[in-house]
Parts: sequence; C-alpha cells; structure tokens
Amino acid sequence: MGSTNHKSIMKGKLMNTMLNQDHLPLWEAISAYRDKGAARLHMPGHKGSAGFPEPLRSAWGTLADFDITELAESDDLYDPVGPLRESQRLLADLYGCAESFYLVNGASVGLIAALLASTQGQSNGGCQKVLLPREAHRSLWHGCVLADLWPVCAEIFVEEESAVALPPSLEALETVLMANPDLKAAVMLHPSFYGLTGDLQPQVALLHEHGIPVIVDEAHGAHMRFLPQPLMDGLQCGADVVIQSPHKTAGSLTQTAWMHSSGGLIDSANLHAALRLLHTSSPSFPLLLSLEAARRQLALEGTQLWSDTMARVARLQLQIARSDKLTTLSGWLPPVLGKRRDPSKMYILTRGAGYSGHKAAELLRSWGVSAELADAGGVLLMFSPGDTDATFEILSETLARLDEYALPAINPLMGLNKWPQLQRLLSPRQAWQSTTKAVSLTQATGRIVAEVIAAYPPGVPLISPGELITDEVVEIITEMLPRIPGGIKETLQIKVVDE
Ligand SMILES: Cc1ncc(COP(=O)(O)O)c(C=O)c1O
Repeated sequence: MGSTNHKSIMKGKLMNTMLNQDHLPLWEAISAYRDKGAARLHMPGHKGSAGFPEPLRSAWGTLADFDITELAESDDLYDPVGPLRESQRLLADLYGCAESFYLVNGASVGLIAALLASTQGQSNGGCQKVLLPREAHRSLWHGCVLADLWPVCAEIFVEEESAVALPPSLEALETVLMANPDLKAAVMLHPSFYGLTGDLQPQVALLHEHGIPVIVDEAHGAHMRFLPQPLMDGLQCGADVVIQSPHKTAGSLTQTAWMHSSGGLIDSANLHAALRLLHTSSPSFPLLLSLEAARRQLALEGTQLWSDTMARVARLQLQIARSDKLTTLSGWLPPVLGKRRDPSKMYILTRGAGYSGHKAAELLRSWGVSAELADAGGVLLMFSPGDTDATFEILSETLARLDEYALPAINPLMGLNKWPQLQRLLSPRQAWQSTTKAVSLTQATGRIVAEVIAAYPPGVPLISPGELITDEVVEIITEMLPRIPGGIKETLQIKVVDE
C-alpha cells in the first residue's frame, strides 16, 4: 500500500481527516506474518488453511491464514500498542472523535458497555435510572439487566397512516427530565429501524445542560455523513458515545461494530473496562480486518459510492410514486421529518394495495427479492453501495409486478396510535431473576410482565419486563394481536412474574 496523499485520492467530497486514510495497518501486519510462514505453535487449532475443515477450506480460500491470535505482530484488542492501536486511531480520525473502539459482538456489546460505563461508580449498590428510547433494541434491555438500571422512556407518537414510530420531540424529553431529575444517562435512537432521525442536536444539548451523558444507538447510521445530502450523526450532534454497526450499512462482516467516544461525559477508562468485561478474550482477526477495510472504503470512496447508490434509489422512488397502490413512507411524513429521513431505507406501504407487508414479502421472495423486514403495514428494503445495477433492475421489475398484483382487501390495521400508560414495579434485573409462569391474557391484569410484547409496525414494546399489566394493556394487546410476532396469537398467554 503506497503512502499516497490521502486527500488527493478521495473521490467526491473531501473528509476532514488528519491521517492517511489509505493506510491498513492491521492488514499489513497480519499479511506480513502470514508471508513469513512461521510455524504456528499457537491458537487457533486450524493453524491456517492447512487444518481448516472442508468445505470451508475450498470455499473461503486463505481466510484461515488471517485468523490468528494475539501475537506481538497482531496486537491485543484490549491493550493495543501496535497495528490495532493505529487502526482504531484511523477510525477516530475519520469520524473526528477522541477515541474509537472496534467491537466484535455487534452494536449490542457497545450499547451494553456504554450503559455500564456511563453508570459506573454512580451509586452504592442502588438501581440507577436511565432514559431509553421507547423502541429500544433488546440489547438495551439486556444492558439494564446486567448493569441493574431502571429504564424510563419519553412519550411515543406514531405516524397514523404508516404506524411508524416518530422520533421523540424536545418537549417529550423535557417532560421526562422534569419527572426524573435523577437520570444518570440517556440513550437516543438515531436513526430508527425505519430510517427516521429526530432533531438530535438540541436534545443532546438539553441533556448535557442537566449533566446527563448521552449515548447514541446509531446501529443504522455509520454511513450518514457519507450520503450525498449528509445527515448529521450522533458525534456531529455532540453525543458522548456513539455506537454504529458498519455491518448493517457499510462493508464489514456481520457481528462487527464500532464505538466512538467524543471524550465528553463518559470516562474512557470505564469504556475500556466495560468492553473487557463483556467481550470475548479471543476477538476474531478476520472480523477486525473487515472493520479496518470498511473504514478505509468509507474514507476513500464512501461519498462517491453513496452518491451513486442514492441516484439509483431516487429512480426507484420515482417508479413507486407513479403507482396508485404502493406508497413509501416519505409520502406520509411531515416535511421536516422527511428531510431527516435516511433515504437508504425504503419502507413500502402495501396496505393501500390491499395486502399486508408479510404477503408482499412472500411474493417478492418468490420472485427472487429478499426484504430486510416485513410487518403488517409494509416491507422495508435496505440499500447500500453493495447493490448493483442488476439488483435495481430486478427490483424495478418485481415492484412493477407487485403493483399489478390483485389480492382481496385486508382489514385495516387497528389501534394505530394507542399506547398504554405504563407503571414499572420491578427493575428489568428483578424481573429477570424472578420465577415466571404463563397466564391467560384474560387473567393477566394486576400481574407483572416478564417478557417484551411488541407490535410491528412500529416495533415498539407495548409492555416490557417489570411493568404492571392493567386492563388497558390487556385491551391494547388483544386489539394488536395480529401485529404481535411469536406464539401469543395462538396461546393467548403472557409470561408473568410468579408472585
Ligand atoms: C436499533 C438497533 N440497535 C442495535 C442493534 C444491535 O446491533 P448488532 O446486531 O450490530 O448487535 C440493532 C440490530 O438490529 C438495531 O436495530
């Protein structure tokens, strides 16, 4: 790899980086080790390609040669002094933050680590309050169990036609802050699974005014600043810690993620300690190498690649706009939210065409197209620079087919904007540690729930472990049963704490 001036080879908009983003220190170090041909009297047991079992050896070529352990040549993820330190430094340079961390257990491990780190040393054994997004990813609930946290959420609103959850308003956040002056940390979702982002910057500022550290779940947002019309990401909005899953929207392998720290209100030593606590002691070097390569690709080509992809998405959007049956979420959003929507996510509402998203996904699948998500209201397609012209051609043809497809009308979605008032009686950890049993929905009032019950769309929990089941909750769950995945539709039973 030459030492070309990094700015001269970046296509499109220049990134404001200080280091040579063309550099792949970890790749170079491990390649050099492989080329040396040293006798590998160390882990892992396959010892490189020679001992790699079939069919993996034939299918994956020399990948196993790069699957090594912590050596002087490869460095140690938890105490990096060589290529891994340099590689993570390049990542921090790209995003313009104080420190970046490679993660080998997805954004999930980053979110749990950030919760642990932000609340470390804040109490003498008592349960501490944190603000979570109402549609929090399950890892955040797991983080509450592990760190013994008491989650509170801002009020949720959904867009009526699509039933997609809207980002919380500043007013809703102010209300939570007034009611909970003892919040120790806040997690903001940005963007949501459906690609919506709120007005994060003033919200981070408000939370900081109250001295509350802000963690941003940006699992779906590693690419946002590389879009042709860039969306401000969590770091640019002033957050303390931002967790991104480049495996979702950039080019790294599944299970990888990275975490950025602005050097603000969450202590770096706490972040290091929390990651050591949660991570495997044998991080996979192929995963780490894929993170390094994804960083380099974003830095050198991200803007150009995303600009090409968005031009293709825009053409598809025009095709759907001509349909009188299919619509996309963009058409239903208030303009201010529409502008802040990630265009790489396309949620196609199918109810207007008379069928559910599940049916649409089934048809698309039979025609050779796999959607990211299907729910009662529509299908969600995710685009990235990995989608070629051929992919867009197939998609264009299949969407035209879907548009022509006539199916009997279905019942409209029910109870789109109805959310129960919830009361928490146990922390998620207490609910986790309690014995549980299944009871019929009709006998559930007055019990404490021990599982998450969520309706899709919008994928927001109607109730979560530790909360009290009321008549209102039972009524709403019953009404939304067709939209709740899992066995509850058949059993009509709910898992509760056995008191
Ligand atoms: C909003 C959100 N946050 C966090 C995660 C966890 O990410 P990962 O799969 O990288 O652990 C997901 C995964 O789907 C997610 O959708």
